[in-house]
Amino acid sequence: DKNAGPTIETVAELIKSGKAKKIMIMCGAGISTAAGIPDFRSPGTGIYNNLRKYNLPYPEAIFDIDYFKENPEPFYALAKELYPTKFKPTLTHYFITLLHRKNILLRCFTQNIDTLERIAGLPDDKIVEAHGSFARSECLHCYAEADPDRVREAVFGEEIPKCSSCKVGLVKPCITFFGECLPVKFFEYLDDFLYCDLLIVIGTSLQVQPFASLVDRVESPTIRLLINREPIYEYFDFEGIYSEISRDAFYKGDCDDGIRKLAELIGWQDELEELYTI
Ligand code: OAD
Repeated sequence: DKNAGPTIETVAELIKSGKAKKIMIMCGAGISTAAGIPDFRSPGTGIYNNLRKYNLPYPEAIFDIDYFKENPEPFYALAKELYPTKFKPTLTHYFITLLHRKNILLRCFTQNIDTLERIAGLPDDKIVEAHGSFARSECLHCYAEADPDRVREAVFGEEIPKCSSCKVGLVKPCITFFGECLPVKFFEYLDDFLYCDLLIVIGTSLQVQPFASLVDRVESPTIRLLINREPIYEYFDFEGIYSEISRDAFYKGDCDDGIRKLAELIGWQDELEELYTI
């Protein structure tokens, strides 16, 4: 194909040669499925396919702020499954940490709320948790911060936590619901996408805005690599159909396999495996 663009080999060479020094990562639920956390939209296993028991008007309602204010029970029931306790980071998480250790990670924008990037050793200033996390919880009425231990007890018990400060408000973990604003940090680091010299998108369907359109902030001809089980044609032009020569690369398959291949091509496989087994 004459217009076909870069490949995972091209990307490996960019990293190996030292040309890529400001790498952006964008990731989603697909990087944590190997850790036993379901994603949202995979047919059969995704969370949105398995919510029938909650009688929701539509699947995303479970993360909708207006729905939650009236019916917090479904979210709190699901939170038991989502709350990070026993989860271990995947090979992909450790690869992101390795990029940081090599001093070539500009930022990791994640949609995940499982905090596995932190557990894998990525420092706070390198992570943008674009959809928040369970780390903090707030009262929806008076915005008082709730005691994390109480929230965790409520999640694993039957109680829906009420604010201990104003006594009336519902307590909600600071994960971003539909209808809520994204965390300030998301907006603070938006310019990273203009300055990066490589974008790697891993394990996301790019169905949710404004996160999805961040890929468009990376200006041509900066290379963008997607590692995912399925291609995403809304944002990428792998075959060079809309541009003379494509700048988009695609690795189709499991992200840990794609990442292992990338690490091998760069010559980092031993270092990566070592980090992973710690
Ligand atoms: P999705 O479930 O929408 O997409 C996950 C993507 O990863 C799909 O394209 C899968 O095919 C792919 N995938 C799954 N496991 C994989 C694996 N092991 N290797 C490679 N690819 C894999 O999840 P997100 O894109 O993260 O937001 O969803 C985005 C947002 O939608 C979430 O942050 C959440 C949800 O509504 C809020 O709740 C605000």
